[in-house]
Amino acid sequence: MRFSISIIASLLLLTSTYAFPTINKPKQHPTRSTPITTHTLPPTLLYQFPNNTWLENFAIRPNGQLLITLITTPEIYLWDPLSPSEVTHITTLPSYVSLLGIASPIPDIYYFVAGNWTSAAGTVPGTYAIWKLDMRVSSPKVVKILDMPKAQFLNGLDVLSPSDGTLLVADSVLGLVWKINIFTRTYDVFIDVPEMKIAVNSTLQLGINGIHIFQNALYFTSMTQELYCRISLNPTHNSSHGAVETLATGIFGDDFTIDRFGNSWITQDPMDLMTLVIGEGSRKGEVFTLAGREGTKVTQSGVPYVVGATRAAFGVLEEDEDVLYVVTNGGIAAAKNGVVGGEILSFDTAGFLNQILG
Ligand SMILES: *[C@@H]1O[C@H](CO)[C@@H](O)[C@H](O)[C@H]1NC(C)=O
Ligand SMILES: *[C@@H]1O[C@H](CO)[C@@H](O)[C@H](O)[C@H]1NC(C)=O
Ligand SMILES: *[C@@H]1O[C@H](CO)[C@@H](O)[C@H](O)[C@H]1NC(C)=O
Ligand SMILES: *[C@@H]1O[C@H](CO)[C@@H](O)[C@H](O)[C@H]1NC(C)=O
Repeated sequence: MRFSISIIASLLLLTSTYAFPTINKPKQHPTRSTPITTHTLPPTLLYQFPNNTWLENFAIRPNGQLLITLITTPEIYLWDPLSPSEVTHITTLPSYVSLLGIASPIPDIYYFVAGNWTSAAGTVPGTYAIWKLDMRVSSPKVVKILDMPKAQFLNGLDVLSPSDGTLLVADSVLGLVWKINIFTRTYDVFIDVPEMKIAVNSTLQLGINGIHIFQNALYFTSMTQELYCRISLNPTHNSSHGAVETLATGIFGDDFTIDRFGNSWITQDPMDLMTLVIGEGSRKGEVFTLAGREGTKVTQSGVPYVVGATRAAFGVLEEDEDVLYVVTNGGIAAAKNGVVGGEILSFDTAGFLNQILG
């Protein structure tokens, strides 16, 4: 069913009374070493939700459409690049407050995190669950897969092995990664290392945030420790793993994506920045700021464009494989530059790597 923007606005009015405290960036990481170069890659605004809509995460369908989870309401919306001026409501899970990480092990079947989190009150431990969304049918089906009562704040999610039915999910408060088996509907601690914990004395209760698997390694952002790291996994995906490798420091990372060359495109939500970390070769570990406060910044209304970026991913079709889609919370986590509605943005990255790497 298609919803007009005004109907969405009234649905979302309920959330507009939330108080959003300002998140102040903690002290710089003591071992900050990674130099940052600013290169401007101007974003395009594709769609804007009403004020106080926090777009949290998204998955891309095989047909190129984005399925976007919201944290300010327990909803999923669909946005279609072929029909960019509207969004379609897919589902609402009224027994939760928020939806978070989403990933797809099988074409057009998605698993996502549901739980109770507000930026005013934080997380409610024990409320989290993994749900499944089947988009292969004309009327999308949602079912609960398992409750995760031991979890405290489930956030980023990725597929470990489609054939084994395994997913990984970051727990931002416990500071560890859970492994979920969607066939047996069970879960266990998979990796638990100091680099995933909330930084000592941090008022913001967020450790590990985004996670993704690339070439059998687990990549993750550790927000308050300002780390971007990877850990090699073993081929059997048991809990034995390699040492933590720190790829970049000084990154206040939310979620991210890894391109086909192994470069990481990271959203730094409260910093209003989009950051690129080079993955391979002689420039490995170099950090570039694409946009945000240190790059291109102002919209027509004078507000920085990449305000509260929460997740990035490349298009899956031939025509948009160089298009980096980014969703935002509109600045409600930090409100340093005013608040706008959550946005869907794109960056055309064609030629950009050649340009900056020479
Ligand atoms: C989570 O939030 C939902 C929606 O407000 C509420 O119905 C549910 O009781 C909450 N769960 C817990 C355990 O507080
Ligand atoms: C944490 O706070 C305590 C008490 O204020 C202080 O002694 C300690 O040095 C702080 N630790 C770090 C890592 O900042
Ligand atoms: C995990 O599997 C590897 C073989 O890939 C093995 O060497 C290791 O001992 C196993 N670890 C555990 C905890 O079972
Ligand atoms: C959104 O919030 C901004 C800043 O508070 C305000 O200027 C703007 O009018 C709001 N827009 C709507 C549609 O409420």
